[in-house]
Amino acid sequence: MRRDVNATHRDLLNARLFEISEGFGAVSEPLGAAMGHAALSSGKRFRGTLLLLAAEASGGVCETMIDAAAAIEMVHAASLVFDDLPCMDDAKLRRGKPATHVAHGEGRAVLAGIALITEAMAVLATARAASPQTRASLVRILTRALGPEGLCAGQDLDLHVEKDRAGIEREQDLKTGVLFVAGLEMLSVVKGFDEEDKLQMIAFGRQLGRVFQSYDDLLDIISDSASLGKDAGRDVQAPGPKRGLLAVADMQGASLHYRANRAQLDRMLRSHRLQAPEIAALLERVLPYGIKDSA
Ligand code: IPE
Ligand code: IPE
Ligand code: MG
Ligand code: MG
Ligand code: MG
Repeated sequence: MRRDVNATHRDLLNARLFEISEGFGAVSEPLGAAMGHAALSSGKRFRGTLLLLAAEASGGVCETMIDAAAAIEMVHAASLVFDDLPCMDDAKLRRGKPATHVAHGEGRAVLAGIALITEAMAVLATARAASPQTRASLVRILTRALGPEGLCAGQDLDLHVEKDRAGIEREQDLKTGVLFVAGLEMLSVVKGFDEEDKLQMIAFGRQLGRVFQSYDDLLDIISDSASLGKDAGRDVQAPGPKRGLLAVADMQGASLHYRANRAQLDRMLRSHRLQAPEIAALLERVLPYGIKDSA
């Protein structure tokens, strides 16, 4: 079996998520259970793990960055709760289990998603080993990434607007890129990067979002629900306009687009302060050049 080079970082992140989750059911045990269902289920933890590897490559993992990574994973989990609702992608399976609204009901799923976001902000507002100024910056970065200039706008475009190629890229930046960018912006604040390094981080995060969402769109077509642990084929079946890259390109065009962007990501990484074998290995595992039918 291949050794998982990211296991330690993922373990650190999971341990922190479990610690944070102890407060989820403080008042309503069923609400806490729905939040745990969404946030503690076995996702790849790609965003958080990448962030901790990036911290490692920039002088070391610290408690502040573990909190930032946990907050990113919590808001990501919340975004998936909303994304799966019948009024959005109408998906039933998530991370190999029934989607949160299927297991806990729609009303409670909505509340759990909101509560995960507010808890994530609370984690940042009290981030360990961070000054009040740093905490405020972290909250500002993540709220901007989620709000009307970020993920909410991207999901709105996805749901309601017919796209062309440029429109898809914009949508990818807004609905997916923003969380990668936010993570790397938080790293820049915590590590005190200069403006040039910060801009390089932002560009890398945006490119990563495009590659990640393009690959996810391809998997939706070429893979199946059992391998993905989530409903495959939703992008053509979901209510509203056709979703994703395959709405504007055929399979060959979409694969070429993905591979070109993937190669660009590698080029960026080579001249980047995040250049580290562990990061390249994680990217290769989650975003392989060869399109195969499992993640
Ligand atoms: C799925 O993200 C949502 C997209 C932005 C495509 P992931 O593929 O990272 O989902 P988990 O966290 O592993 O479940
Ligand atoms: C979701 O994109 C992006 C989010 C911001 C949640 P998808 O709708 O393609 O994600 P999956 O395929 O359901 O995970
Ligand atoms: Mg969606
Ligand atoms: Mg979806
Ligand atoms: Mg998808």
